[in-house]
Amino acid sequence: MKESDRSSFGSRFGVIVAMVGSAVGLGNIWRFPYLVGENGGAAFILIYLLFSVLISLPVFCAEFVIGRRGRASAVGAFRNLAPGTKWYLSGFTSILAVFLILSFYSVVGGWGIKYMVDSVLLKFTQDAAGTDFAAGFAQFSTGNWAPLVYMLIFVVITAAVVILGVEKGIERFSKWIMPILFVLILVLVVRSAFLPNSDVGYRYLFQPDFSKVTSQTFIAALGQSFFSMSLGMGAIIIYGSYVKKSDNILSHSAITVGLDTLFALLAACAIMPAVFSFGVEPGQGPGLVFVTLPHIFSNMPLGSLVAFLFFFSLLLAAVSSAISLVEVMVSFLIEECRCSRKLAVFISILTQAVFGTLCSLSLKPGSPLTLGGLTLFDLFDKISSDYVLTIGALLIVLFVGWKMKKADFMDEMTSGGTIRLPKWLANTIYWLIKAVAPLAILTILIFS
Ligand code: PFF
Repeated sequence: MKESDRSSFGSRFGVIVAMVGSAVGLGNIWRFPYLVGENGGAAFILIYLLFSVLISLPVFCAEFVIGRRGRASAVGAFRNLAPGTKWYLSGFTSILAVFLILSFYSVVGGWGIKYMVDSVLLKFTQDAAGTDFAAGFAQFSTGNWAPLVYMLIFVVITAAVVILGVEKGIERFSKWIMPILFVLILVLVVRSAFLPNSDVGYRYLFQPDFSKVTSQTFIAALGQSFFSMSLGMGAIIIYGSYVKKSDNILSHSAITVGLDTLFALLAACAIMPAVFSFGVEPGQGPGLVFVTLPHIFSNMPLGSLVAFLFFFSLLLAAVSSAISLVEVMVSFLIEECRCSRKLAVFISILTQAVFGTLCSLSLKPGSPLTLGGLTLFDLFDKISSDYVLTIGALLIVLFVGWKMKKADFMDEMTSGGTIRLPKWLANTIYWLIKAVAPLAILTILIFS
């Protein structure tokens, strides 16, 4: 496609907003706290931070470079950059990742909508303090119809935004949400800090106990870092392909990675003190946030109002992440299968709805939708981040480090020489991409 044919972001600010919009979502607020709880707290967080700087930031730059230079979606970008080779096949891992992630992401997005509705029904007022929120969540999430209806609402909202197109849909939408969500999380962090026994939560978050670390901790931390920053599946390739040549790849990448990490840490600081204060089980898995937050809301003034604003902005953050997932599938279908945009969105909604339904139903006790003792929901959740995104990210750094010419990489990083990037910094990023990231990812994959 010629440069002028591709849709593009309206402004530099718009690029950052859309990338942060893709990165910040359920991964930060739902998935990060529950993994921290499952993996023993501070040690997991430390490993996560280390990986985010040493592996995810370079992967982010590499994906961005492929997108902007390849000017197409994942498969097409590889084909444009390495014509006549089999590299384009690596783009297919992103289609697999989208399919797996969208399935369970829509279910969790639906849970968020249900809690938003509950807050309108005043279920989180101070009268509700003392309610067994764990039982309530279990009953709802394992139900037959309610979680499916909410999931479908989430799917339809996402599709509506994608149909509106890149700039209009995504950009306008994201720039209001992130600041609102940020302020609301800060409010929760402050409320949590004043709960009785909150110090136990802080110790859990900040005092590492390395005896809890296993090889699984490493793969979980790496997979979560990729998931949270939307890496390893071509989302940043696509967004990169919409970005102007003059935009600074390193600064956009660093801002996105930094803000995403900040959101995740704040979410953990809001949740964990409350987990210990209300005696919630930290290692209970995907329900953690939905069981803990109602306790916080019902123990604060104007709890239902704060809950509504929180779940509303969480929904929008989840939608702005989901649209980047859908966009990966849709642009693949448009570019590779010559579908119209409408048909592509329709196919995407249909798969999302069908596999979302299966994931949701797999949570029912005794459901046959399990494999090796894991529900389909847990299986998709685990396999997508821990393996598919990780392998996708590995292929991306190998491509940039070993297939692409170093001069081409530097040309992108400096926007054709117009951005003055210190030599040591450019070389550090290059070697992180070429050697450190692939070795680290391979080692973690092998030992897990
Ligand atoms: N980063 C999103 C989140 O943290 O919720 C999820 C996600 C979006 C993962 C887009 C991958 C992706 F390509």
